[in-house]
Amino acid sequence: MNNTRKNKPRFFFYLCPMRIDILSVLPELLESPFQHSIMKRAQDKGLLTIQVHQLRKWAVNEYGQVDDYQYGGGAGMVMMCEPLAKAIEELSSERKYDEIIFLTPDGETLNQQIANTFSLKENLLLICGHYKGIDDRIRQHFVTKEISIGDYVLSGGELAAAVLVDAIGRLLPGVLNDETSALFDSFQDHLLAPPVFTRPEDFRGWKVPKILMSGDHKKIEEWRLDQSLKRTQKRRPDILKEE
Ligand code: ADE
Repeated sequence: MNNTRKNKPRFFFYLCPMRIDILSVLPELLESPFQHSIMKRAQDKGLLTIQVHQLRKWAVNEYGQVDDYQYGGGAGMVMMCEPLAKAIEELSSERKYDEIIFLTPDGETLNQQIANTFSLKENLLLICGHYKGIDDRIRQHFVTKEISIGDYVLSGGELAAAVLVDAIGRLLPGVLNDETSALFDSFQDHLLAPPVFTRPEDFRGWKVPKILMSGDHKKIEEWRLDQSLKRTQKRRPDILKEE
């Protein structure tokens, strides 16, 4: 049965919570990131279910082994096929995953468009790598997307998974209090967000731009757009060009 969101009527889109399963050898690393603030609210509201699975549950022996030396020699262990294949197959027998995502520094670099696309899915399975990486046959035969969170190498995929889940989770309808606010985030519409200010109006002689106190909403919106454009032009002209 194909149960992806695109085949469901629109009202279902809003009622259908997203589920994200994560495979990791260090599930403890992922305890805190989802227990606070917006990710906690998303789960409390029943809009997002996050399930972290200890990969050692599918270990090849009683010692919990999930990695081995690499063929061809060289330092560093490689995560073995069998535990990963068994875990993916068992989890996939319980639900159909829209994407099986491997977090890896050589993947496609995460951006807002990718987060937007993932936020429309129903079930995602994330695989966190460790050591030298995972046996390439898992990438060839199971993984459907490979995502990097930037051009640097982390000790494992868990922090990258936390970043990806956060970027997706906050986009789910109903998660943010003011639903429109994610629409004005930096990178939506290829623009960085404008500067923001709060009380006091004068801090050490540093004043809030007068326009923001004018009450003229049309003018304020024009000012914000102008600031966004200037900021993007100065800091990230590359994303302006993408349009
Ligand atoms: N694992 C290690 N480094 C990573 C990165 N930059 N992005 C995603 N997963 C990773």
